[in-house]
Parts: sequence; C-alpha cells; structure tokens
Amino acid sequence: MFDSIREDVRAFREHDPAATSTISILVNSPGMRAVWAYRRQHWLWTHGHRFLARTLSTWSRHRFGVEIHPGATIGRRFLIDHGSGIVVGETTIVGDDCMIYQGVTLGGTGKQTGKRHPTLGDNVTVGVGAAVLGDITLGDGSKVGGGAVVVKDVPAGCTVVGVPGHVTTRCGVRVRTQPAHTDRRRQYLPDPMEQTVEILTARISQLEEQVAALTAQAAPSQDVRFQPDGGEAAQAPSGTEE
Ligand SMILES: CC(C)(COP(=O)(O)OP(=O)(O)OC[C@H]1O[C@@H](n2cnc3c(N)ncnc32)[C@H](O)[C@@H]1OP(=O)(O)O)[C@@H](O)C(=O)NCCC(=O)NCCS
Repeated sequence: MFDSIREDVRAFREHDPAATSTISILVNSPGMRAVWAYRRQHWLWTHGHRFLARTLSTWSRHRFGVEIHPGATIGRRFLIDHGSGIVVGETTIVGDDCMIYQGVTLGGTGKQTGKRHPTLGDNVTVGVGAAVLGDITLGDGSKVGGGAVVVKDVPAGCTVVGVPGHVTTRCGVRVRTQPAHTDRRRQYLPDPMEQTVEILTARISQLEEQVAALTAQAAPSQDVRFQPDGGEAAQAPSGTEE
C-alpha cells in the first residue's frame, strides 16, 4: 500500500508543476486522497462488503467532491488534478498512468446496461469538464480536450476535441477534417423547391375542399358534376326529367 502511495505522489510531482512538496500533496490534494479512499472501498466491494463500500464512497463524494464508484477498475498512478465534480461510473476501466481534470465524467449514456461506462487505456488524459460516455474505448496515449463530449471510440495516440468529439491530432500529426456539425447543419437549411411543393399541395387540398362543399350545396337542386377535363356538366333538377 505504501509503495502505491509513494508512486502516486511521485507521479503527481512529475505531472503538476504546482506540487512542490510531498507533505503538501498528501494534505492538499483532494483528488489524490479520493483515489486512495476509492482503493480501500474497491477492496471492500470486491470482498463482498458492497453496502459499506458504497456508503463510504458517498461519504468520499461529500468530502472530496469526487465520486468514484467502488466497482470501477482503476490502474496504477491514476491522477485527479483539482478533484471536484468528478464522476467515475461502476463499470469504468482505467489503465495505468491516466490523468483526469476537474469536472470530468466517465459515465453511461443511459441507454446501455451491463458494461456501460468507458474503458481508458494507459496514459490517457481527459481534460477539464469533458464527458466520456458509454461503453467506448479511449486508446493508449489518447487525449480528450477540455469540454469535449466523446461518445465513440478514440484510437490510440489521438487527440479529440469538441462536441461531439472529433480527432484533431493522430500520433502527433494534425488531422484536418471538416467538423461534423458543418455537414449536419446543411440539412437544416431551407430547401426552396420543397417549400414550393408544400405550399402547392396545401393549396390543392384547400381547393378540393371548396369544390366538395360547392358540389354538396348544388346537389339537391342541381346535379352538378365536375368533369375530369375541368369543365362541368349541369343537369336539370331531378323531377323535371322526362
Ligand atoms: C486538446 C488539448 C490536449 C490540445 O491538444 P493538441 O493536439 O495539442 O491540439 P492543438 O492545441 O494543436 O489544437 C488543435 C485544434 O483543436 C482546437 N482545440 C484545442 N483544444 C480544444 C478544446 N479543448 N476544445 C475545442 N477545441 C480545441 C484548437 O483550437 C485547434 O483548432 P484549429 O485546428 O481550428 O486551429 C488541449 O487543448 C486541452 O484541451 N487540454 C486539456 C487540459 C486541461 O484540461 N487543463 C485543465 C487545467 S486546470
């Protein structure tokens, strides 16, 4: 256990320039303490004390602002910087040397059951306020930009930004793609032909109703029938017929 704490502190010092002393990290790092609390709760969870584990994790949430479900599987040297507003779902799997910032959600989409939370490979970074949703995989070394919403797998070594998340860098090389929303917006542009057809269709229905009403009015006294060629044939009122 002490080895694990030691390597966590070392990793924290390497990643965070503001972390200057070990004692300061131990006392003033809610993210780190939340992870240590999670490790104890995970042990309880996997040894059959699920209610206790869950209750302690709720307590940790109040204390550190970090909600890690005790059923989640988290690798070594998992760093949470600032540690506030973080949610890690029950079936999340996190590899080694991953780092997440404040406001990150590793959650479900609400549509899946069973394994419904993400899997993070090794060396994955998830930026401030990002949401990684569903049973998707973030490959080794991938990065999620701050504020991104990721709902699809991210290949190893890629950086994803935006809503919905799209790849901007693949293994250090910039990827220039049109953002997905550009194409999507096109379908919302007004189509003049479609609008004209809709107006004409509505006008034809209106005219058909008027014709039906006129026909109904004329029927008792005069049998008026519209011919298919647009003309009309008026017949003498019934009773005067020979
Ligand atoms: C995504 C990130 C990792 C940078 O990755 P990168 O591959 O170096 O990306 P670049 O800086 O080269 O930017 C690539 C493009 O993505 C855009 N971009 C970068 N970060 C973005 C973000 N979070 N959201 C939306 N777009 C972003 C850039 O503007 C650039 O767009 P362009 O192609 O139109 O110029 C970084 O911007 C980030 O978000 N890090 C999170 C760090 C964090 O959470 N810090 C909290 C400290 S408290």
